[in-house]
Amino acid sequence: MELKFIGHGCVQLSEKNDKLIFDPFIDDNPLANISSDDVSPNYILLSHFHDDHKGDAFQIAKDNDSLIISTAEIAGAAEQEGLKSHPMHIGGTKEFDFGSVKITPALHGSGIAGGHACGFVVNFHGKSIYYAGDTGLFSDMKLISEFFDLDFAILPIGSNFTMDINEAVLATQFLKPKGVIPIHYNTWPPIEADPKEFQQKVSEKTNSECFILDPGESIDIT
Ligand code: NI
Ligand code: MN
Repeated sequence: MELKFIGHGCVQLSEKNDKLIFDPFIDDNPLANISSDDVSPNYILLSHFHDDHKGDAFQIAKDNDSLIISTAEIAGAAEQEGLKSHPMHIGGTKEFDFGSVKITPALHGSGIAGGHACGFVVNFHGKSIYYAGDTGLFSDMKLISEFFDLDFAILPIGSNFTMDINEAVLATQFLKPKGVIPIHYNTWPPIEADPKEFQQKVSEKTNSECFILDPGESIDIT
């Protein structure tokens, strides 16, 4: 399985022709080095509806007949646009052809009336990935490691809107993933953060390995 960091909060998982993308904010992302026309996901997972997460999701879904998987309010907005969507909500799990999706809480605004921000635990072709979404630290992240043996956790570190580096290190201790990837930093000045500082602290304080990916960079998860 390939995990590719497209930039900001956007991460793509792919295995053969199966592609799942989280929060495809691409064309207005100053650090992205591809265009939204370059991605062709079967599945789009949206953590919340802020512009830096919703991004190009609806246009990509329209162009690729992608299935949008999100909370009920966002899935409903997608359906109103004539897009394919599957509504879920916090605590729920659903099986898909690629594996499964569980929706986790996130401490953040939803960006849509009546909604909640969320995170995801995705089992994608046998690999277990936690995508935190935009969130502050919460101690119930410990519960995720009670139920899932995570291969990777994808965590925001940029502060201002989300956790900062030290909180993301504690989140890594709670989650116990094999690998951790920092996201949601350095896109704009308010979320400047040094991923090398995070990497150093992860190596000192956790048993996880931190991978810093530049926009466009990918790693193979075997
Ligand atoms: Ni947000
Ligand atoms: Mn954000």
